[in-house]
Amino acid sequence: MNKIYLDQASTSFPKAPSVAQAVYDYLAGSAVNVNRGGYRAAYSVEEQIFETREQLLKLFHFTSGKGKNVIFTENITASLNVLLKGLLKPGDHVLVTAMEHNAVMRPLVQLEKHGISFDRIPCASDGSLLLDKATALLRPETKLVVCLHASNVCGTVMPAQEIGDFCKEHGLLFILDTAQTAGTINIDMEKCHIDALAFTGHKGLRGPQGTGGFLIRNKLAAQIEPLISGGTGSASHSEEVPAFLPDRFEPGTPNIPGILGLHAALCDLEKQSMEEIRQHELMLTQYFIDGILNLDPEEKFLRIIGKKNIENRCAVVSVQTLHMDMAQAAFELDSTYGIMTRVGLHCAPNAHKTLGTYPEGTLRFSFGPENTKQELDIALDALSALL
Ligand code: ALA
Repeated sequence: MNKIYLDQASTSFPKAPSVAQAVYDYLAGSAVNVNRGGYRAAYSVEEQIFETREQLLKLFHFTSGKGKNVIFTENITASLNVLLKGLLKPGDHVLVTAMEHNAVMRPLVQLEKHGISFDRIPCASDGSLLLDKATALLRPETKLVVCLHASNVCGTVMPAQEIGDFCKEHGLLFILDTAQTAGTINIDMEKCHIDALAFTGHKGLRGPQGTGGFLIRNKLAAQIEPLISGGTGSASHSEEVPAFLPDRFEPGTPNIPGILGLHAALCDLEKQSMEEIRQHELMLTQYFIDGILNLDPEEKFLRIIGKKNIENRCAVVSVQTLHMDMAQAAFELDSTYGIMTRVGLHCAPNAHKTLGTYPEGTLRFSFGPENTKQELDIALDALSALL
Protein backbone atom coordinates (compact mmCIF):
# COMPACT_ATOMS: atom_id res chain seq x y z
CA MET A 1 0.00 0.00 0.00
CA ASN A 2 1.39 3.43 -0.92
CA LYS A 3 1.44 5.87 1.94
CA ILE A 4 -0.24 9.24 1.47
CA TYR A 5 0.87 11.90 3.92
CA LEU A 6 -1.85 14.47 4.56
CA ASP A 7 -0.66 15.77 7.93
CA GLN A 8 1.52 18.60 6.65
CA ALA A 9 0.18 21.05 9.25
CA SER A 10 1.78 18.90 11.91
CA THR A 11 5.13 18.60 10.19
CA SER A 12 6.05 18.63 6.52
CA PHE A 13 7.05 15.57 4.53
CA PRO A 14 9.02 15.05 2.40
CA LYS A 15 11.59 17.53 3.65
CA ALA A 16 13.20 19.87 1.12
CA PRO A 17 15.57 17.93 -1.19
CA SER A 18 18.92 19.02 0.31
CA VAL A 19 18.03 18.78 4.00
CA ALA A 20 18.92 15.18 4.87
CA GLN A 21 22.29 15.40 3.10
CA ALA A 22 23.19 18.63 4.89
CA VAL A 23 22.40 17.11 8.29
CA TYR A 24 24.34 13.97 7.41
CA ASP A 25 27.35 15.87 6.06
CA TYR A 26 27.65 17.88 9.25
CA LEU A 27 27.26 14.93 11.60
CA ALA A 28 29.50 12.60 9.62
CA GLY A 29 31.93 15.28 8.49
CA SER A 30 33.10 17.37 11.41
CA ALA A 31 30.26 17.88 13.91
CA VAL A 32 32.18 20.67 15.63
CA ASN A 33 30.67 23.12 18.09
CA VAL A 34 30.19 26.80 17.35
CA ASN A 35 31.27 30.01 19.12
CA ARG A 36 33.77 28.05 21.16
CA GLY A 37 36.47 26.40 19.04
CA GLY A 38 39.44 28.38 17.70
CA TYR A 39 39.76 26.37 14.48
CA ARG A 40 38.70 26.66 10.87
CA ALA A 41 36.06 23.88 10.91
CA ALA A 42 34.18 25.76 13.63
CA TYR A 43 34.39 29.07 11.74
CA SER A 44 32.95 27.44 8.63
CA VAL A 45 29.90 26.14 10.53
CA GLU A 46 29.48 29.54 12.21
CA GLU A 47 29.45 31.10 8.76
CA GLN A 48 26.65 28.82 7.58
CA ILE A 49 24.61 29.60 10.68
CA PHE A 50 25.16 33.29 10.02
CA GLU A 51 23.96 32.78 6.43
CA THR A 52 20.83 31.08 7.77
CA ARG A 53 20.08 34.17 9.86
CA GLU A 54 20.49 36.32 6.75
CA GLN A 55 18.18 34.05 4.75
CA LEU A 56 15.47 34.39 7.41
CA LEU A 57 15.82 38.19 7.48
CA LYS A 58 15.27 38.19 3.74
CA LEU A 59 12.41 35.69 3.80
CA PHE A 60 10.43 37.80 6.26
CA HIS A 61 11.49 41.17 4.74
CA PHE A 62 13.03 42.34 8.00
CA THR A 63 15.02 45.05 6.25
CA SER A 64 15.81 47.06 9.38
CA GLY A 65 17.05 43.93 11.18
CA LYS A 66 20.51 42.38 11.15
CA GLY A 67 21.64 38.76 11.49
CA LYS A 68 21.85 39.19 15.27
CA ASN A 69 18.11 39.93 15.37
CA VAL A 70 17.40 36.33 14.33
CA ILE A 71 17.36 34.04 17.37
CA PHE A 72 17.35 30.25 17.10
CA THR A 73 15.35 28.15 19.55
CA GLU A 74 14.24 24.52 19.44
CA ASN A 75 10.75 25.29 18.16
CA ILE A 76 8.07 27.95 17.88
CA THR A 77 6.62 27.00 21.27
CA ALA A 78 9.97 27.77 22.90
CA SER A 79 10.10 31.06 20.97
CA LEU A 80 6.68 32.14 22.22
CA ASN A 81 7.55 31.15 25.79
CA VAL A 82 10.75 33.20 25.68
CA LEU A 83 8.91 36.21 24.26
CA LEU A 84 5.82 36.14 26.47
CA LYS A 85 7.39 35.08 29.75
CA GLY A 86 10.34 37.39 29.29
CA LEU A 87 8.27 40.42 28.37
CA LEU A 88 5.06 40.42 30.39
CA LYS A 89 4.90 41.85 33.90
CA PRO A 90 2.14 41.75 36.53
CA GLY A 91 -0.63 44.14 35.50
CA ASP A 92 -0.01 43.78 31.76
CA HIS A 93 -2.95 42.98 29.49
CA VAL A 94 -2.72 41.10 26.19
CA LEU A 95 -5.02 40.56 23.21
CA VAL A 96 -5.15 37.24 21.35
CA THR A 97 -7.64 35.87 18.84
CA ALA A 98 -10.35 33.32 19.57
CA MET A 99 -8.52 30.81 17.34
CA GLU A 100 -5.22 30.41 19.20
CA HIS A 101 -3.15 27.28 19.54
CA ASN A 102 -1.81 26.26 22.95
CA ALA A 103 1.66 27.53 22.01
CA VAL A 104 0.21 30.99 22.71
CA MET A 105 -2.50 30.09 25.22
CA ARG A 106 -0.64 27.87 27.66
CA PRO A 107 2.10 30.43 28.41
CA LEU A 108 -0.60 33.11 28.83
CA VAL A 109 -2.72 30.94 31.13
CA GLN A 110 0.41 30.24 33.22
CA LEU A 111 1.11 33.99 33.31
CA GLU A 112 -2.43 34.70 34.49
CA LYS A 113 -1.37 33.30 37.87
CA HIS A 114 1.24 36.08 37.99
CA GLY A 115 -1.18 38.94 37.42
CA ILE A 116 -1.16 39.10 33.62
CA SER A 117 -4.54 39.11 31.90
CA PHE A 118 -5.74 38.55 28.35
CA ASP A 119 -8.82 38.93 26.19
CA ARG A 120 -9.69 37.11 23.01
CA ILE A 121 -10.68 39.15 19.95
CA PRO A 122 -13.79 37.33 18.71
CA CYS A 123 -13.78 35.40 15.45
CA ALA A 124 -16.69 34.38 13.21
CA SER A 125 -17.72 30.73 13.05
CA ASP A 126 -15.44 30.22 10.02
CA GLY A 127 -12.43 31.43 12.02
CA SER A 128 -12.25 34.92 10.45
CA LEU A 129 -11.07 37.62 12.83
CA LEU A 130 -13.59 40.30 13.83
CA LEU A 131 -10.96 42.97 14.30
CA ASP A 132 -13.55 45.73 14.68
CA LYS A 133 -14.40 44.17 18.06
CA ALA A 134 -10.83 44.65 19.33
CA THR A 135 -11.06 48.34 20.21
CA ALA A 136 -13.67 47.65 22.89
CA LEU A 137 -11.25 45.22 24.54
CA LEU A 138 -8.42 47.74 24.86
CA ARG A 139 -7.36 48.88 28.33
CA PRO A 140 -4.74 51.41 29.40
CA GLU A 141 -2.53 48.46 30.42
CA THR A 142 -2.88 46.58 27.10
CA LYS A 143 0.67 45.96 25.92
CA LEU A 144 0.54 43.49 23.12
CA VAL A 145 -1.33 41.56 20.47
CA VAL A 146 0.01 38.03 20.03
CA CYS A 147 -1.70 35.69 17.60
CA LEU A 148 -1.32 32.97 15.05
CA HIS A 149 -1.13 33.85 11.39
CA ALA A 150 -3.30 30.93 10.29
CA SER A 151 -5.44 28.45 12.15
CA ASN A 152 -3.99 24.95 12.34
CA VAL A 153 -7.57 23.68 12.75
CA CYS A 154 -9.40 25.13 9.73
CA GLY A 155 -6.73 27.04 7.79
CA THR A 156 -8.26 30.52 8.08
CA VAL A 157 -5.55 33.19 7.73
CA MET A 158 -5.57 36.20 10.04
CA PRO A 159 -5.17 39.68 8.49
CA ALA A 160 -1.59 40.38 9.62
CA GLN A 161 -1.50 43.76 7.89
CA GLU A 162 -4.70 45.01 9.56
CA ILE A 163 -3.63 43.67 12.96
CA GLY A 164 -0.26 45.40 12.54
CA ASP A 165 -1.98 48.68 11.62
CA PHE A 166 -4.25 48.33 14.65
CA CYS A 167 -1.22 47.77 16.91
CA LYS A 168 0.57 50.78 15.45
CA GLU A 169 -2.49 52.99 15.86
CA HIS A 170 -2.89 52.00 19.53
CA GLY A 171 0.80 51.81 20.49
CA LEU A 172 0.77 48.05 21.05
CA LEU A 173 3.48 45.49 20.40
CA PHE A 174 2.69 42.82 17.80
CA ILE A 175 4.00 39.25 17.97
CA LEU A 176 3.03 36.93 15.12
CA ASP A 177 3.11 33.11 15.29
CA THR A 178 3.79 31.92 11.74
CA ALA A 179 3.71 28.16 12.46
CA GLN A 180 1.30 27.42 9.62
CA THR A 181 2.38 30.05 7.10
CA ALA A 182 6.18 30.53 7.05
CA GLY A 183 7.44 29.28 3.71
CA THR A 184 4.10 29.44 1.94
CA ILE A 185 2.66 32.92 2.58
CA ASN A 186 4.72 36.03 2.00
CA ILE A 187 5.06 37.90 5.31
CA ASP A 188 6.56 41.38 5.48
CA MET A 189 7.70 42.24 8.99
CA GLU A 190 8.17 45.91 8.16
CA LYS A 191 4.87 46.53 6.36
CA CYS A 192 2.89 44.58 8.96
CA HIS A 193 4.63 46.40 11.87
CA ILE A 194 5.61 43.08 13.46
CA ASP A 195 7.83 43.47 16.51
CA ALA A 196 8.67 39.79 16.85
CA LEU A 197 7.92 37.00 14.41
CA ALA A 198 8.08 33.43 15.73
CA PHE A 199 8.78 30.70 13.19
CA THR A 200 9.24 26.97 13.02
CA GLY A 201 11.68 25.26 10.68
CA HIS A 202 9.92 21.93 10.23
CA LYS A 203 6.59 22.86 8.62
CA GLY A 204 6.35 25.07 5.51
CA LEU A 205 10.09 25.75 5.51
CA ARG A 206 10.57 21.97 5.17
CA GLY A 207 13.57 21.76 7.48
CA PRO A 208 14.27 19.40 10.38
CA GLN A 209 12.22 19.14 13.56
CA GLY A 210 13.78 20.84 16.56
CA THR A 211 14.45 24.05 14.63
CA GLY A 212 12.72 27.39 14.93
CA GLY A 213 13.24 30.77 16.46
CA PHE A 214 12.16 34.36 16.32
CA LEU A 215 13.06 37.58 14.57
CA ILE A 216 12.96 40.53 16.93
CA ARG A 217 13.39 44.28 16.87
CA ASN A 218 16.13 45.71 19.14
CA LYS A 219 13.63 47.80 21.06
CA LEU A 220 11.54 44.80 22.05
CA ALA A 221 14.59 42.58 22.70
CA ALA A 222 15.79 45.11 25.27
CA GLN A 223 12.54 44.66 27.23
CA ILE A 224 12.78 40.86 27.42
CA GLU A 225 14.41 39.07 30.32
CA PRO A 226 15.92 35.79 29.01
CA LEU A 227 14.04 32.71 30.18
CA ILE A 228 17.11 30.48 30.01
CA SER A 229 20.69 31.52 30.64
CA GLY A 230 24.10 29.91 30.44
CA GLY A 231 27.32 29.78 28.48
CA THR A 232 27.36 31.42 25.09
CA GLY A 233 31.07 31.24 24.28
CA SER A 234 31.11 35.06 24.51
CA ALA A 235 31.84 37.50 27.35
CA SER A 236 33.15 34.53 29.33
CA HIS A 237 34.74 36.82 31.94
CA SER A 238 31.25 37.58 33.24
CA GLU A 239 28.61 35.54 35.03
CA GLU A 240 25.93 37.93 33.78
CA VAL A 241 23.78 37.12 30.73
CA PRO A 242 25.26 39.05 27.77
CA ALA A 243 23.25 42.11 26.78
CA PHE A 244 23.92 41.66 23.06
CA LEU A 245 22.03 39.65 20.46
CA PRO A 246 21.76 36.86 19.51
CA ASP A 247 23.80 35.56 22.49
CA ARG A 248 21.37 36.99 25.03
CA PHE A 249 18.76 34.44 23.95
CA GLU A 250 20.96 31.60 22.69
CA PRO A 251 22.69 29.97 25.68
CA GLY A 252 24.16 26.49 25.34
CA THR A 253 25.13 24.51 22.27
CA PRO A 254 22.49 25.03 19.59
CA ASN A 255 20.87 22.39 17.38
CA ILE A 256 23.66 22.70 14.80
CA PRO A 257 22.62 19.78 12.55
CA GLY A 258 19.07 21.12 12.59
CA ILE A 259 20.10 24.68 11.73
CA LEU A 260 22.32 23.44 8.90
CA GLY A 261 19.38 21.37 7.64
CA LEU A 262 17.23 24.49 7.81
CA HIS A 263 19.93 26.39 5.89
CA ALA A 264 19.70 23.77 3.14
CA ALA A 265 15.88 23.96 3.17
CA LEU A 266 16.03 27.75 2.79
CA CYS A 267 18.51 27.40 -0.11
CA ASP A 268 16.01 25.03 -1.77
CA LEU A 269 13.15 27.45 -1.12
CA GLU A 270 15.14 30.31 -2.67
CA LYS A 271 15.32 28.34 -5.92
CA GLN A 272 11.53 28.05 -6.05
CA SER A 273 8.66 30.47 -6.27
CA MET A 274 6.83 30.67 -2.94
CA GLU A 275 3.79 31.96 -4.83
CA GLU A 276 3.76 28.83 -7.01
CA ILE A 277 3.94 26.63 -3.91
CA ARG A 278 1.05 28.57 -2.40
CA GLN A 279 -1.06 28.33 -5.57
CA HIS A 280 -0.46 24.58 -5.77
CA GLU A 281 -1.49 24.09 -2.14
CA LEU A 282 -4.59 26.24 -2.59
CA MET A 283 -5.53 24.36 -5.75
CA LEU A 284 -5.38 21.10 -3.74
CA THR A 285 -7.41 22.67 -0.93
CA GLN A 286 -10.22 23.77 -3.22
CA TYR A 287 -10.11 20.43 -5.05
CA PHE A 288 -10.52 18.56 -1.78
CA ILE A 289 -13.35 20.80 -0.55
CA ASP A 290 -15.16 20.43 -3.88
CA GLY A 291 -14.59 16.68 -3.76
CA ILE A 292 -16.23 16.44 -0.35
CA LEU A 293 -19.16 18.60 -1.44
CA ASN A 294 -19.51 16.41 -4.48
CA LEU A 295 -19.67 13.29 -2.30
CA ASP A 296 -22.08 14.78 0.16
CA PRO A 297 -23.64 18.02 -1.21
CA GLU A 298 -25.82 18.60 1.82
CA GLU A 299 -23.03 17.76 4.27
CA LYS A 300 -25.20 15.18 5.99
CA PHE A 301 -22.28 12.89 6.73
CA LEU A 302 -19.25 15.11 6.47
CA ARG A 303 -19.37 18.71 7.62
CA ILE A 304 -16.62 20.97 6.32
CA ILE A 305 -15.42 23.16 9.17
CA GLY A 306 -14.61 26.78 8.45
CA LYS A 307 -14.67 28.26 4.99
CA LYS A 308 -15.54 26.38 1.84
CA ASN A 309 -13.31 28.49 -0.34
CA ILE A 310 -9.62 29.37 -0.49
CA GLU A 311 -9.86 33.04 0.31
CA ASN A 312 -7.50 33.94 3.19
CA ARG A 313 -6.68 30.35 3.80
CA CYS A 314 -3.79 27.92 4.07
CA ALA A 315 -3.83 24.28 2.97
CA VAL A 316 -5.74 22.81 5.91
CA VAL A 317 -9.20 21.24 5.68
CA SER A 318 -10.99 19.96 8.77
CA VAL A 319 -14.14 17.88 8.58
CA GLN A 320 -16.45 16.56 11.21
CA THR A 321 -18.72 13.55 11.13
CA LEU A 322 -20.97 12.42 13.90
CA HIS A 323 -21.78 9.20 12.01
CA MET A 324 -18.54 7.51 12.87
CA ASP A 325 -15.99 7.93 15.63
CA MET A 326 -13.41 10.23 14.06
CA ALA A 327 -10.44 8.52 15.72
CA GLN A 328 -11.73 5.29 14.20
CA ALA A 329 -12.02 7.02 10.81
CA ALA A 330 -8.41 8.27 11.07
CA PHE A 331 -7.28 4.79 12.09
CA GLU A 332 -9.04 3.18 9.13
CA LEU A 333 -7.80 5.80 6.70
CA ASP A 334 -4.30 4.88 7.77
CA SER A 335 -4.58 1.13 8.19
CA THR A 336 -6.78 0.37 5.15
CA TYR A 337 -5.80 3.14 2.74
CA GLY A 338 -2.39 4.35 3.95
CA ILE A 339 -3.68 7.90 4.44
CA MET A 340 -2.15 9.84 7.34
CA THR A 341 -4.26 12.54 8.95
CA ARG A 342 -4.63 14.17 12.37
CA VAL A 343 -7.74 13.84 14.51
CA GLY A 344 -8.95 15.59 17.69
CA LEU A 345 -8.57 19.10 19.05
CA HIS A 346 -5.14 19.81 17.49
CA CYS A 347 -3.92 21.60 20.67
CA ALA A 348 -6.36 24.46 20.01
CA PRO A 349 -9.43 23.99 22.26
CA ASN A 350 -10.73 27.54 21.93
CA ALA A 351 -10.52 27.40 18.14
CA HIS A 352 -12.94 24.47 18.29
CA LYS A 353 -15.24 26.43 20.62
CA THR A 354 -15.24 29.21 18.01
CA LEU A 355 -15.86 26.81 15.14
CA GLY A 356 -18.54 24.83 17.02
CA THR A 357 -16.53 21.59 17.02
CA TYR A 358 -15.74 21.34 20.72
CA PRO A 359 -15.32 18.85 22.37
CA GLU A 360 -15.46 16.28 19.54
CA GLY A 361 -12.78 17.95 17.44
CA THR A 362 -12.19 17.31 13.75
CA LEU A 363 -10.53 15.03 11.29
CA ARG A 364 -7.90 17.18 9.62
CA PHE A 365 -6.31 16.91 6.18
CA SER A 366 -3.41 19.21 5.32
CA PHE A 367 -1.46 19.49 2.11
CA GLY A 368 2.06 20.37 1.01
CA PRO A 369 3.91 21.17 -2.20
CA GLU A 370 4.46 17.53 -3.14
CA ASN A 371 0.91 16.29 -2.59
CA THR A 372 -1.08 15.61 -5.74
CA LYS A 373 -4.68 15.58 -6.95
CA GLN A 374 -4.36 11.81 -7.41
CA GLU A 375 -3.60 11.41 -3.72
CA LEU A 376 -6.64 13.49 -2.84
CA ASP A 377 -8.80 11.35 -5.15
CA ILE A 378 -7.71 8.31 -3.15
CA ALA A 379 -8.51 10.13 0.10
CA LEU A 380 -11.94 11.15 -1.20
CA ASP A 381 -12.72 7.58 -2.33
CA ALA A 382 -11.60 6.30 1.07
CA LEU A 383 -13.86 8.80 2.87
CA SER A 384 -16.74 7.82 0.64
CA ALA A 385 -16.20 4.12 1.40
CA LEU A 386 -15.88 4.72 5.14
CA LEU A 387 -19.00 6.84 5.44
N1 ALA B 1 0.33 22.27 16.02
C1 ALA B 1 0.65 21.28 15.09
C2 ALA B 1 -0.57 20.66 14.47
O1 ALA B 1 -1.52 21.35 14.30
C3 ALA B 1 1.61 20.30 15.62
O2 ALA B 1 -0.59 19.50 14.17
